[in-house]
Amino acid sequence: MAAEVPQVLIEALREARSVAVLTGAGISAESGVPTFRDAQTGLWEHYRPEDLATPEAFDRDPGLVWRWYAWRRELVGGVEPNAGHRALAELESLVPRFTLATQNVDGLHRRAGSHNVLELHGDISRTICSRERLTRDPEGLEGEPPSCPECGAYLRPDVVWFGEALPVEAFETAQEEARESDLFLSVGTSSLVQPAASLPQAALSGGATVVEVNPEPTPLTPHADYTLRSPAGEALSALVAAYKNSV
Ligand code: OAD
Repeated sequence: MAAEVPQVLIEALREARSVAVLTGAGISAESGVPTFRDAQTGLWEHYRPEDLATPEAFDRDPGLVWRWYAWRRELVGGVEPNAGHRALAELESLVPRFTLATQNVDGLHRRAGSHNVLELHGDISRTICSRERLTRDPEGLEGEPPSCPECGAYLRPDVVWFGEALPVEAFETAQEEARESDLFLSVGTSSLVQPAASLPQAALSGGATVVEVNPEPTPLTPHADYTLRSPAGEALSALVAAYKNSV
């Protein structure tokens, strides 16, 4: 069943000069990537992301955290972008100004063809030195985690852990684009984790029309102008198809 897209929303999209999008784990769920609210599976079922994705967890047991990310990298390496990722990549080519900020670290937006992507929480496929914070290639290095070939400190995934600051430039750009946007889509996020969850509010304060795409309600729902209660793949494909039929 194709998601119903209100005509007024198609009009708003057609009139929008600037569209900004925030995505969360929900847009990758249809690719087979578990969301943070999904239970962890397999040998990781006894761990919570909150207990692994932290600097303290890495200091306490770097090998455990490194192995968890190696498992997630393998999982993500084996999946494909879905219709939701592809619809946003197409939308970027259809509207005058388009910004996509994602909390996801799976790289699926870029693989789907999106260009202007702000990775607010980093990218699981990139590795950095935990001391120098410079990108390092772990290929061929021994150890879990391997040591930095330059300074000897442990290597770590280039992702934002709980309690760590977001990449300043990426987040400031995302805030600015949200404020300037005419239409803001919040897709597949529980809208619980700050500061990313503040972006829809920045859009609202800038006078944007805010749309939530999520099968479940979230703290954003009462503030959104429109809610598409469907999986992102269906809702975004229907939105882009309706937009293309309207111009
Ligand atoms: P969550 O797991 O918190 O929320 C996923 C959201 O996606 C939920 O609201 C689901 O209802 C929704 N959802 C599930 N399937 C969907 C589908 N097919 N289409 C659309 N929506 C769907 O993931 P995030 O909101 O991304 O932070 O979590 C935000 C941050 O919390 C993550 O980036 C991570 C986590 O802790 C860090 O790691 C720093």
